[in-house]
Amino acid sequence: MKDLLGIRELSREDIFSFLEAAKRHKPAVQDHKLRKNQLAGASMATVFYENSTRTVMAFLMAGEYLGITAKDLNVATSSVTKGETLIDTGLTLEAMGVNAIVLRHSMTGSSHLLARNVDCAVINGGDGNNEHPTQALGDAFTIWQHKGDFEGLNVTIVGDIANSRVARSNVFLLTKLGAKVTVAGPATLLNGNMRALGAEMTTDVAAAITGADIVMGLRVQLERHKAAHFPSLAEYAKFFGINMEVLKRMREGAIIMHPAPVNRGVEISSEVMDCPASVIYEQVTNGVAVRMGILERLIK
Ligand code: CP
Repeated sequence: MKDLLGIRELSREDIFSFLEAAKRHKPAVQDHKLRKNQLAGASMATVFYENSTRTVMAFLMAGEYLGITAKDLNVATSSVTKGETLIDTGLTLEAMGVNAIVLRHSMTGSSHLLARNVDCAVINGGDGNNEHPTQALGDAFTIWQHKGDFEGLNVTIVGDIANSRVARSNVFLLTKLGAKVTVAGPATLLNGNMRALGAEMTTDVAAAITGADIVMGLRVQLERHKAAHFPSLAEYAKFFGINMEVLKRMREGAIIMHPAPVNRGVEISSEVMDCPASVIYEQVTNGVAVRMGILERLIK
């Protein structure tokens, strides 16, 4: 495997090998004494054309924990602002000896384009509303640690489905591993393609959460909306938000997830975000472990 561009291309074996690697690496994220310089001498660059806290920092921290020289190219102050192309930016980093580039870009397929034009590894850190494979692998690792298996699990994803690369990557991954996935949200933010990908689709959030083992909230991505998709944030929260009342319907022992960042009080209430069933910050820790496994596999 040269690159990690999407979940769509991965086999079950690939996915489980990433989950096993994350399990191996998680203790090193939690205890600095266990960190090793196993990839000393290697180097990676994060190149983010869209903002990020978790993905960029998780990759930089994962790199550091493996002994990799890890640098962020601040795109806003880079020569991209002078008109340098994506491919030329990648070739420039490669000419400096970079072994892996983690790319986030608003264009669907941007990582595929870069991967075809450089020899170093390219990792998709999110491309438009297409895929966010490293987020989905981290989410799967979190589910696996809590539930032990995916077969027959009821996973409900609630929110701005149409604009969500996290939803797409999770639907690819979870259906591949035998989970039943339902996506729910306002009709204006659903995406008919989800049915073709194997998910069920509804506007009835309460019904979708009934009997769920996993409830995953998604951020309302206002920055991607070209028109109003609901009258107000207050109305969105009232009809489609995840709150304590609606959570009474999930299965006992169910967990609440969210890729974050979170609009507290909009797609998910603060009470839900901070309740014992919420694993949202554990997802962040697991995101570093899974990215250590990804770097290890691609850079090796
Ligand atoms: N979940 C996620 O991709 O978060 P960031 O946008 O902060 O990287």
